[in-house]
Amino acid sequence: FLKATAALALCFTANSAIAACEDGEIVVKFAHVTNTDRHPKGIAASLLQERVNDEMNGTMCMEVYPNSTLYNDDQVLEAMLQGDVQLAAPSLSKFETFTKVFRIFDLPFMFKNIDAVDAFQASDTGEAMKDSMTRRGLQGLEFWHNGMKQFSANKPLIEPTDAAGLKFRVQPSDVLVAQMEALDASPQPMAFSEVYGALQQGVVDGQENTWSNIYGQKFFEVQDGTTETNHGVLDYLVVTSVDWLDSLDPEVRDQFLTILQEVTAERNAAVGQVDMEARQAILDTGAVIRELTPEQRQAWVDAMKPVWEQFEGDVGADNIAAAQEINA
Ligand code: LMR
Repeated sequence: FLKATAALALCFTANSAIAACEDGEIVVKFAHVTNTDRHPKGIAASLLQERVNDEMNGTMCMEVYPNSTLYNDDQVLEAMLQGDVQLAAPSLSKFETFTKVFRIFDLPFMFKNIDAVDAFQASDTGEAMKDSMTRRGLQGLEFWHNGMKQFSANKPLIEPTDAAGLKFRVQPSDVLVAQMEALDASPQPMAFSEVYGALQQGVVDGQENTWSNIYGQKFFEVQDGTTETNHGVLDYLVVTSVDWLDSLDPEVRDQFLTILQEVTAERNAAVGQVDMEARQAILDTGAVIRELTPEQRQAWVDAMKPVWEQFEGDVGADNIAAAQEINA
């Protein structure tokens, strides 16, 4: 008994968010890379865990592993296909080796805000994207929102030419690589957990991310300031393996998917507030946020938008037109 208590205590010290699963329960490991507090994904994952463990107690048990404690995003999908993890919510930039349909979300200035992203995802085209990887063994379940991306660097970024010659960390996406090249900057794909150290040590000069990620990872501590460009979106796909989903009894699957749907609706509706609170929290530390005049922002649009043409073949001119219609 003592041994078991000690083991349990250790387990709780390592990650207090992990529930103790009982024998006979279906264990759902959910690995993600962000923090849990003041973060759209962290909050949604915690709520999902709480509801599953409460409402499906005895049947299903969810263990959330945040902060890249179990896998990085570049390992998690392979681990899922091996059956080592059942749920993940990587950003839409991280599915490139499985599908190119999500490239539309990485194109700079494609969506004017998260409401437009939401409307596009809810369309038939967006819904169909969830099934784009089933042949490869992955099933998309729900889109989770984060927010619009901002640029930061170790010097002020006001004009797009300010980014020229700088090294920027990007997520592993060809569109994001092309976007930085359009600014004559040097894109460096890198895992999320390595960005703070890379900025601090000058391995890269800058990065792009949302307010909640900039706040959660404290990037502002090691940057000159953040420029409010809102130049792109960072959103997530909650994903599982086709095999695991098929292995569930229909009633269990339905209950799980219903809870996931309800958590998605609740947290997606609240995302704007989480985003703005993270922005305010950055300001409260005394860190600099630079706003652009309409003319300054237009210069960034002019510099980056030509990237659309490079990817029109992958993304589809009809999808681009549909996204633009939603923006209008
Ligand atoms: C990143 O790598 O910057 C993001 O995808 C991290 C995240 O999950 O928000």
